[in-house]
Amino acid sequence: MYAVEMIGITKRFGDFTANNKVNLLVEKGEIHCLLGENGAGKTTLMNVLFGLYKPEEGTVRINGKTVENHSSRNAFHLGLGMVHQHFMLVDALTIWENVIIGNELGKFTINEKESIHAVQALADQYNFDLDVTQKVSELSVGKKQRVEILKTLYRGANIIILDEPTAVLSPPEVLQLLDILRDMKSEGKTIVFITHKLNEIKVVADHVTVLRAGESVETCAVADKSVTDLANMMVGHEVSFDQKREDQVPGEVVLSLRNVRLLPNAQNTVSFDIRAGEIVGIAGVEDNGQQQLEEMIMGFTKCKEGSIVLLGDDITKWNTKKRCAKGIGYIPSDRLKRAILSGFSIVDNYLLGSQFSAEYVSHGLIKKKHLLERTKALMKSFDVRAVDENQSIGSLSGGNQQKMVLSRAVAKGADFVIACQPVRGLDIGAIQYIHEILLDLRRQGKAILLISAELTDIRKLSDRIAVLYKGEVLALKKNEDYTTEAIGLLMAGQKE
Ligand SMILES: Nc1ncnc2c1ncn2[C@@H]1O[C@H](COP(=O)(O)OP(=O)(O)O)[C@@H](O)[C@H]1O
Ligand SMILES: [Mg+2]
Repeated sequence: MYAVEMIGITKRFGDFTANNKVNLLVEKGEIHCLLGENGAGKTTLMNVLFGLYKPEEGTVRINGKTVENHSSRNAFHLGLGMVHQHFMLVDALTIWENVIIGNELGKFTINEKESIHAVQALADQYNFDLDVTQKVSELSVGKKQRVEILKTLYRGANIIILDEPTAVLSPPEVLQLLDILRDMKSEGKTIVFITHKLNEIKVVADHVTVLRAGESVETCAVADKSVTDLANMMVGHEVSFDQKREDQVPGEVVLSLRNVRLLPNAQNTVSFDIRAGEIVGIAGVEDNGQQQLEEMIMGFTKCKEGSIVLLGDDITKWNTKKRCAKGIGYIPSDRLKRAILSGFSIVDNYLLGSQFSAEYVSHGLIKKKHLLERTKALMKSFDVRAVDENQSIGSLSGGNQQKMVLSRAVAKGADFVIACQPVRGLDIGAIQYIHEILLDLRRQGKAILLISAELTDIRKLSDRIAVLYKGEVLALKKNEDYTTEAIGLLMAGQKE
């Protein structure tokens, strides 16, 4: 018996087909994973299932019944619940209030005591570890997510859709969530779980449906597939997992942070060095001071306490332009805000940041021919895929935008490169390419600071790893001196 049958779903946005005759069959009581790279059409398909989008073609059946005139209102009556990528909670209210909002219809008064009791009982039944009288604003991201799940359960949902729920969680929180999904399954719930993380599928899912470029490629039992099989299905070609960081002895210190205070209320300041030919990885759940670290090194925010030394010069008081000229290659965490001008062409974006450099400008005039030649060469060697160099950068995929940003930073030849969340939002193919570029910079003897919320990237690329928590470095050691579990615990604030 299928809880969900989506058959031949086609959903277009203008000329663009986001879902092309997609089929999705989810058995009752299973955990079904929807796997696909960024932009594959997963969220679109779930929005169709939830009645938020009306498809151009196709049929949706819930528990064997065809759904007519689908809308998010009847999604609720059909027993569907959805936990979106962005939470929709009211911070100023308590957990129980958030859970009952919108569900008190038909009643004129809310019995506070009864409501608290009912919501708490439900939370306990699924081991959510929540005190429902707490304010939502006080909760960790992991707990907020559990409140979202609780909301769907309270409304009696028995088919629960979670859109990339683990993207925002620390490793221990991921394990807790996977336990909760198993508990819900054992209570008879049907779960559709979206992710592009292969290990999560292996441990929790019964079946997986792979979406690629808007089409459903395959549905199969997870037990029959290895992680490599799943990766190949997702990407559509063979994926190699054997890029290696060769042994290499680091050289001179290139960048030094001395007693820098990242967050005003951090208990300790931060100090570390990065040497030539070395990648230092900053592991941590987002919002633990990574952004401040990035902004202080780049000179966007004042470093009020401590100092930063680059190639022997104290740059603490220097402006961004002077720092970059001295030797910083920058891959910003916020690509749209700091790295590119979306409406401008690829060529113009290559010029960005070099408007004052003698390479591209002489006597106030842009050396157009040279710029164009460099652009073409960089696009070719970094595999930036576009119609041509005049295409607007905003119309490229995230992976191609990021390759452009990296190639621009690399082309500057700076001795120090700061790569902030360089693979965020990218698919496996592009991620591997970015890894290769960073490893290549290391081979060339550049000093690299890698700030990433993706632990797999940190582990794969870094010579040394610092774990950042609430603006402090909880540990800084050689990569091989950690276990992945230990890093996960440190990311959650537990010192060894
Ligand atoms: N509202 C929209 N308007 C136009 N294009 C959209 C819209 N929503 C999604 N898309 C496009 O559809 C494709 C699939 O998006 P999405 O379903 O969000 O992918 P996924 O969740 O797998 O990352 C993407 O190329 C995206 O840009
Ligand atoms: Mg999505």
